[in-house]
Amino acid sequence: MKEEKKSASGKGVGGIFFFGGFILALIFGWIVFPNLLFSEKAQPLNFSHVAHQDSTCDQCHSFNPDGTYSGIPRLDNCVECHESPMTSEESERILVEEYIQKQQEIPWKVYAWQPDNVFFSHAPHQAKNIECTQCHRDVSKEAKLPPYSENRLTGYSKSTMKMIDCEKCHAQMGANNNCQVCHK
Ligand code: HEC
Ligand code: HEC
Ligand code: HEC
Ligand code: HEC
Ligand code: HEC
Repeated sequence: MKEEKKSASGKGVGGIFFFGGFILALIFGWIVFPNLLFSEKAQPLNFSHVAHQDSTCDQCHSFNPDGTYSGIPRLDNCVECHESPMTSEESERILVEEYIQKQQEIPWKVYAWQPDNVFFSHAPHQAKNIECTQCHRDVSKEAKLPPYSENRLTGYSKSTMKMIDCEKCHAQMGANNNCQVCHK
């Protein structure tokens, strides 16, 4: 009788240790490790899409002749309006003094960039009229850039679209989900 009781309570203590360890692992896995894994990087200057709502998207983002997206606009796209500052914003001072006057391209950090082993093209998606916001954050109401988090191990952005999200939509819309469609 005594023996049984002892081992039973031993199990109970072990259970507590197991449960405690389990909770610790969850905290580590979900909160501590991701925070250690990602470091926040500052953008070179703040860019407000709201301040530019009088321009159309394709004045700054357009397709190249080969079907690739021209991507983040280059300084050429800014100079026509920002030769000299028209606001008292710090972001515009940086734009004019650090980049336009020095003829230096702005090293934007691209939230959406995929790892090198992924092939992506905007062209087939544009052909199916898929909205930008299906894959990107809605920038149209954005006055301040969100924080940019970089994976310390891989150097990739945290907010790239994940494989499961590409595949989910491909399955729904009947697009090809063979590995080599996205990994060449
Ligand atoms: C005056 C030029 C300009 C106009 C007009 C403009 N953009 Fe941008 N866009 C930028 C710049 C500069 C960035 C880089 C900073 C950033 O990531 O927000 C950017 C970034 C983006 C990104 C994020 C890319 C990434 O992952 O980092 C998306 C999506 C985007 N723009 C969509 C749009 C849409 C949709 C419109 C029209 C409603 C639009 N833009 C109008 C200049 C412009
Ligand atoms: C089907 C998903 C999808 C749609 C729809 C989409 N994008 Fe993207 N976009 C991406 C991915 C993925 C990347 C990263 C590509 C890479 O890593 O080369 C990207 C990159 C970008 C970039 C970064 C610049 C660069 O180097 O390519 C801009 C700007 C951008 N997209 C704007 C837009 C705009 C504007 C629209 C709507 C007209 C749009 N995207 C629609 C998935 C999408
Ligand atoms: C067609 C003209 C035009 C072009 C092209 C243009 N801008 Fe602007 N930009 C404006 C106007 C107008 C304002 C002031 C809006 C306001 O009064 O709030 C502004 C404001 C700004 C500001 C400061 C205001 C804020 O709220 O952040 C920054 C920074 C800026 N633009 C960056 C850029 C960059 C970077 C590019 C090139 C990718 C660019 N602009 C291209 C017209 C333009
Ligand atoms: C919102 C839906 C949606 C999302 C999200 C999406 N796609 Fe697609 N994708 C499509 C559709 C629709 C097609 C066009 C299929 C066709 O033309 O028959 C396509 C086509 C493609 C093609 C060309 C396929 C071919 O057969 O040549 C590639 C490559 C691709 N997608 C990669 C990606 C990657 C990588 C991602 C994630 C970063 C992604 N897609 C996210 C809907 C989506
Ligand atoms: C529709 C596009 C698409 C298809 C189809 C696809 N992948 Fe991916 N894959 C991605 C994207 C985007 C990433 C990078 C983002 C991420 O890590 O989720 C990725 C990342 C990966 C990685 C890196 C590890 C990881 O998960 O981060 C491996 C391995 C991989 N894919 C294997 C495969 C295999 C095997 C197949 C076929 C069964 C496949 N993929 C099909 C889009 C795709």
